[in-house]
Amino acid sequence: MVVFRRSPMGLLHYARQPVSRSVFLESQRRLLSLTSCRYNNSHIDDNKNKKKLKNVFQANSNKVVRKPKTKEELARERFEEQLKSPNRFVRWGAIARSEKFSKGMTKYMIGAYVIFLIYGLFFTKKLFAKDKELERLLKKQEEGNANEYETLRIKELKGKLRRRDELKLEEYKKMQEEGVENFDDIQVQNFDQNKLNEQILPARDTTNFYQGKAGEYDKAINMEEKVIFLGKRRKWLMKHCQGDVLEVSCGTGRNIKYLDMSRINSITFLDSSENMMEITHKKFREKFPKYKKAAFVVGKAENLVDLAEKGKPSLENESEKQVKYDTIVEAFGLCSHEDPVKALNNFGKLLKPDGRIILLEHGRGQYDFVNKMLDNRAEKRLNTWGCRWNLDLGEVLDDSDLELVEEKRTHLGTTWCIVAKRKGDAKKKGELGFVEKYLQSSIRKRMESFEKNDSTESKKELGPITPVSKS
Ligand SMILES: C[S@@+](CC[C@H](N)C(=O)[O-])C[C@H]1O[C@@H](n2cnc3c(N)ncnc32)[C@H](O)[C@@H]1O
Repeated sequence: MVVFRRSPMGLLHYARQPVSRSVFLESQRRLLSLTSCRYNNSHIDDNKNKKKLKNVFQANSNKVVRKPKTKEELARERFEEQLKSPNRFVRWGAIARSEKFSKGMTKYMIGAYVIFLIYGLFFTKKLFAKDKELERLLKKQEEGNANEYETLRIKELKGKLRRRDELKLEEYKKMQEEGVENFDDIQVQNFDQNKLNEQILPARDTTNFYQGKAGEYDKAINMEEKVIFLGKRRKWLMKHCQGDVLEVSCGTGRNIKYLDMSRINSITFLDSSENMMEITHKKFREKFPKYKKAAFVVGKAENLVDLAEKGKPSLENESEKQVKYDTIVEAFGLCSHEDPVKALNNFGKLLKPDGRIILLEHGRGQYDFVNKMLDNRAEKRLNTWGCRWNLDLGEVLDDSDLELVEEKRTHLGTTWCIVAKRKGDAKKKGELGFVEKYLQSSIRKRMESFEKNDSTESKKELGPITPVSKS
């Protein structure tokens, strides 16, 4: 079958092109349906209809009749256009949808999954090896035989190295590279930041400073605290208060509004500045006018044990009635103490078994650029606020007799949220981390069972040696 189709090049020029029979029939059918539709409702009789139809047919016979594209074809065309699009995002989108790409991706995905599995296996093995090493070193430490390197390695394995520890460990690793294997008789020099860094100013008695500052303290600090959303942290600190509570360095009582007295049996406030304490007393009485079990003590945290002795009721069975606390809290106090380590040790001495010490403090951050900034303004800060804001609190905490349960840091590491307990007291259920609670023990059990199986298998393989009889 041959039809004439108008050439795209010119109106008068007709090219003779072969068209398949099915295409031709389809075009005729569509034309007929079009015309019949147009004439269906007219009141012209059949003959007239046929005549008109013939005319229409003849009139349209020289037009190109194209088969309409299916949805799939249109989508395909659009997709091919997108593949050539000058806009790279459209082009990449089209490539990502292409069949070739998705086939390739499946291969990559399988590959990545295999790599992930292999990595997971090595990771678990490494974790187990670290766990074993930690166990061995802890045992040695318990027996009192761990050398300094091993103590530092314990900290490294627990992810609790301070700056001074990192510097020490570097020295030990240098020695290791030089071939030294036993560090039993070796002790590397100390790199204490709080002693060696001259920009961390020496501790001092700040009582007089706060005596003078008390009147303007709240007004001056309000804005700074709002900017860094400190209210949220204070809330965190005070939500731990339960039972018999001691707040050290209470200042002007800025934490009082976060107290939940329904969980508290008694509360004692301590501060070295009388003027600061007066403001605390006023705020507390305004909020809880009828609360009876509250005490307001002016004194230093460094003398806390003596103060507690003095406050002790003189009863026959004194040891039973020792003044001890379930919760000891302190906010931004360590930076203004004369001897922060002594103060922390006193907290430990006055803590009931299972009691907790909760600290909200500020100190050195986690980044060098932050610490430089703190160092450069350390003197100005001390003169304005009476505190050493660039103190390495990690060192202070590690030098104390306390054991950390939780250490969270915000504001680029400069705000320290600490939960501590007496050494030897067990952790509470809620204080165990996910790894500690579930993974470590299960990995250990599983690996130990593998080890047991391996050793029994190897014993079986060796078996009893049967004597070979000579004939
Ligand atoms: C920076 S202010 C913090 C006050 C309050 N805790 C707060 O969060 O706003 C430090 C407070 O610690 C007190 N302080 C300084 N040295 C102290 C010490 N050795 N024992 C007890 N309190 C002390 C000061 O009097 C002052 O009230």
